[in-house]
Formats: sequence, structure tokens, C-alpha cells
Amino acid sequence: MCGIVGYVGHREATPILLEGLRRLEYRGYDSAGLAVAHRGRLRVTKAAVRVAGLRDLVGTPTQATSGIAHTRWATHGEPTDANAHPHTDTSGRIAVVHNGIIENSERLRAELTANGVTFTSDTDTEALAHLIAAALAAGAASLEDAVRTTLRRVEGAYGLVVLDARKPGELVAARNGSPLVIGVGEDETLVASDVAALVRHTQRVVYLEDGELATLTATDFRTSTRDARTIDKEPTTVELTAEDYDLGNWSDFMHKEIHEQPAAVSRALLGRLDDQFATARLGGIEVTARDVHAIRRVKFLGCGSAYYAAQLGAGLMEELARLPADAEPASEFRYRNPVIDSDTLFIAVSQSGETLDTLAAVRELERKGGRLLGVVNVVGSALARACGNGIFLHAGPEVAVASTKAVTNMAVSFAMLGLLFGRVRDLSFADGQRIVEGLRALPGQIAEVLDAEPEIAEVAKRYADAQHMFFTGRVRGWPVAREGAQKLKEISYLHAEAYQASELKHGPLALIDKSMPTVAVIPGDELVAKNIATVEEIKARGGPVIAVTSADLPDGLADAVIRVPRTELELNPILLTLPLQLFAYHVALTLGRDIDKPRNLAKSVTVE
Ligand code: AGP
Repeated sequence: MCGIVGYVGHREATPILLEGLRRLEYRGYDSAGLAVAHRGRLRVTKAAVRVAGLRDLVGTPTQATSGIAHTRWATHGEPTDANAHPHTDTSGRIAVVHNGIIENSERLRAELTANGVTFTSDTDTEALAHLIAAALAAGAASLEDAVRTTLRRVEGAYGLVVLDARKPGELVAARNGSPLVIGVGEDETLVASDVAALVRHTQRVVYLEDGELATLTATDFRTSTRDARTIDKEPTTVELTAEDYDLGNWSDFMHKEIHEQPAAVSRALLGRLDDQFATARLGGIEVTARDVHAIRRVKFLGCGSAYYAAQLGAGLMEELARLPADAEPASEFRYRNPVIDSDTLFIAVSQSGETLDTLAAVRELERKGGRLLGVVNVVGSALARACGNGIFLHAGPEVAVASTKAVTNMAVSFAMLGLLFGRVRDLSFADGQRIVEGLRALPGQIAEVLDAEPEIAEVAKRYADAQHMFFTGRVRGWPVAREGAQKLKEISYLHAEAYQASELKHGPLALIDKSMPTVAVIPGDELVAKNIATVEEIKARGGPVIAVTSADLPDGLADAVIRVPRTELELNPILLTLPLQLFAYHVALTLGRDIDKPRNLAKSVTVE
């Protein structure tokens, strides 16, 4: 959600900024812009265009060796040229790019307007540019001081970078709630909202924390707090390279990431299965066997697909460890004054590790002294750092807005956690072995499901003209149905609704007719007969049914059947999720959607 890139160094800034923005496109945006400092003046180019369009507008780059750039996802003000970032003060000296929301912007705008400032945009950000310029005019000792003075007046969330045309050799960055990471190169320093924009130039990075500022020059960076206390930070090395973010021969990232799942799951399992004790070894979690015995309840928190994966995790935790477990959207949890018991383990789940609602739930847990563990994909992300203790997903960078491989690795990680806790409690050695073997077989079985893509694509094309679809499942199949409906909504824009199969007769069955296909998720478990009965009820009312199953279904039961291999019952939901990703993908492809960047959505939701 919104992307920031800043550069100060010895090379021409414009191409580096444009390339950085291209790497951040996946975060979602509706306008783009950049500012460079050249011969004591700012040169600003911005419009409601894609990054490729911005490249055309920029034309011949200047020799400028510093600048800032932005992709905007509209919050305050429509996605217009005027509202695109960077924003400048009236004199054109100061340029600001900003992610987040300034909550007291109306008051600041009113005050500045009363002082004679004319605003050229509807954004909350523009006020920052005017305030920083005013602080400099009032005698601030440096750009950093002017930014610090301004931020004292600001309420809300921000990740921002500021450029002063009169001092082009430095940039000032500040973070409060929106991620910023500094890239330390050879005689050049970058800053961005995510490492994707940095790794082409350097692997040495420094993460800014909330409440911190940084002044960057080509050869140095200095970090401090809002109250001007210096903080020494050493760069760390990220393992990612530019190739990790390349599309290669794939036409879009979602397709690439779906097919990366066998390798991603293998990475998640690597070195974590223990045959000697038929358990899992999860080095990153600081939970002893005694701690496990003291846990009475497990609560998973996440948003969107991470929440659906969390629901699947809660099922696994109950089955494998016989610990009461449930999942709740982090966005709801944070606002309902939750009861935090000392014997509940809270598990915060996120691909990006930057989802604001999940982070806020974690902060609330910290404040109330809850026991916390993070399950996160992005190393170095705010959530990974806030939790300190947890499981990394090792899914690799996920670029498509629709999460696929990260969701699968979340489920696999929950299975390992359930196995570990179960083996400390009362899961038998034999059952532990069964799960270890089941997990080990997953990458191969996932590859088998993906090999069936042509058949799944054919079914998807057949149903792509439906206006609405139901997804049904019960118990193990229920979170799978929810995630399947979510994938279809996100990228195809079809109305998809998930329902517990057991609840159909209590209302939604009234909607069934020949125009309402149902995707019925049917694990090969003890509820097959119940699921078959539901399918028959739908068929009796003329509703088309696509069964996604690891069970042997009677011939002719459903209009289309997508089969997945049999696995251990507990692990069934992991495999059943995969065909639904391909189904949604091929419906969206048939409908000609922009699969990697669905309308209105952003990859990481760093605002409420
Ligand atoms: C997934 O397909 C969605 N794009 C979305 O629901 C996502 O899972 C959610 O925003 C949470 O993101 P996170 O895992 O990065 O926290």
C-alpha cells in the first residue's frame, strides 16, 4: 500500500527511482510521482498513471543525484494528478513523499490556510511540506530539525521522506506506523518502504522503528529519536536478491507463486521434522515443554487470508494438540477490549509483517502482557521484530496481491506447531510419525495437484460467466471454502460467498438455482456422507456443483470433480486449498482481469 523510494548518491537518481517504484508496484497504487533536486530547484513529475506512464512523462532525466519517489494508494483525496506525491511547499523548496494517514490534517490545513498558504491538493501530506518549509524559514538548524519540529505537531501514521532543493546531498526519513528501510550501498544510500526496491543496489539494510528519524547522505546515515536522541544502528544483510522479485518467463506473479509452492513448502519443512521423537523442531520459538503444559488455550490473529489460514491453524491445533483454539480477525480483536489470560498463547499471523491491524493487535497484547508468538513471512518486518519469537514461513517474496504460497506455508507451519505441542501433550509417537510422514509427502502431492492445472482451468472457464458462487465446507473444509471464496472475489471480482455446508438449510439454500454454482469442498474424512447429502440437496434445486475432494464420490454426483491426492486427514485442508487458487486464477484470466493488481486492493495494508 503506497510505495516510497529515496536515493542520494553518485549516480543519476531518476532511473534508480523509477526502477524502485516498478519493484513496489505490487503493493497497489493509483498514481505515481517523483522529485529530484537539480541546480537548487526541485523538478517534480507526478500524475494518476502507472509507473510506465510516469517514465514517459519524466522524459530526459536530469543529472540530479538525489530524489524521492512515490506510488500512491488514495486515502485523503481522489487519485488525481494533483493528489499524487511528492507534495511541495509554496516556494517549491521542500518535497515530501508520505505513506500513512495524518489524523489532524484538517486542523493543520485550516491553520496554514489562515496564515495565507494556498493548498494545491486535497491530501493530508501537503500540510507536511508547508510546515517543514515554515520551520526552516523560522530558523531550524537543519532539515532534520525542521522535520522533527513538524512531526511534534502531527498525529497519525507516517513513513515519510523529505528532500530540500537547497541541500540536495541529504534526505530525511521518519517512521511512525508505516515501514521504512534504509539501504546502505557503496557511496550511495537508499530508503524505501520495502526491501524489494533496494536489493538491486545493496543487501545491507537498516530498519527504522516507530518514532525514529534518519538523515541520509551518499556516504553515511544517522538515526535518532523524535526527541533528538542518537541511536546507533548497524546494517544487517538480507538474503534476497533482485532475481527473487523477477517474473522470469511467467506472465504474472500469482501464477509463478502458485507453482513455487512445492519448493516453498520444502523450504518451510527443511530441518524442522524430527524422526527420532516424531515431532517438529522450531528453532525460532521460545516455548519450553513446561510452557506448553501451561497453555490452556490458543488464539490465532490475522487479517484476510492470513485469518482464514489461522482458522485452519486453530483446527490443526485442536486436532493435533487437543488444545482449545480459535481464530479472530486482528482488526476486530484490537478494538473490543479483549480479555488477555496468562494461560492463552496468542499467535499473530502475517505474510508481510506490516499489516497495521495485526501490528496493533500485537501492541495491545504486549501492553496487556499476553504471551505472543509470530508467524511471519517477511524477515525484518515490523511484526517479526515486534514478536521477537516465532516461526518464519520461508515462502520467499510474495508479490501478487492474492496470497497463495504464503497461505500454504502458514498452514504447514501451523501443522508443525500443532505437532510439536501435540507431542508434548498426548499425541502418540505413532500419530506423530504419521503427521511427520504426511508433511514430508506434501511437496510432491502439491506438485501433483498443480499438474492437474489444465483440467482445473477447463472447469474454471466453464463457470466464469456466473455472477455469484457459493463455496461450502464443513469442519476441516470450512476454512478452505472461505479462502477459496476470498481468492475468487479478490482477483475475478465475482461475488463469492462461503458458507458452512451444515448451515445451508438455515437460510442460504433459498438462493440456489441454476445460476448459482457451488464449489463444495469435501475432505476424505468422516463427514463425507454429510457432504454428499448437501451436494444432493443443492442438485435437487438445480444448482450446479463443482466438487473439490480427496474422497471417492459417487459417479455423477457433481457437475465437475477436482480431485486432490489422499493425505493424512488432518493435513487434507492444505491440499484442498490449492485447486481453489488455480480455479480463481483461471476464472480471472478468462475474464481478463489484472491478476497481480486487482482493483482497490493493496498487497500490504498499512493503514486501517
Ligand atoms: C490475500 O489474498 C489478501 N490479499 C489479503 O487478505 C491478505 O491476506 C491480508 O491483507 C493480510 O496480509 P498479511 O498476511 O500481509 O498480514
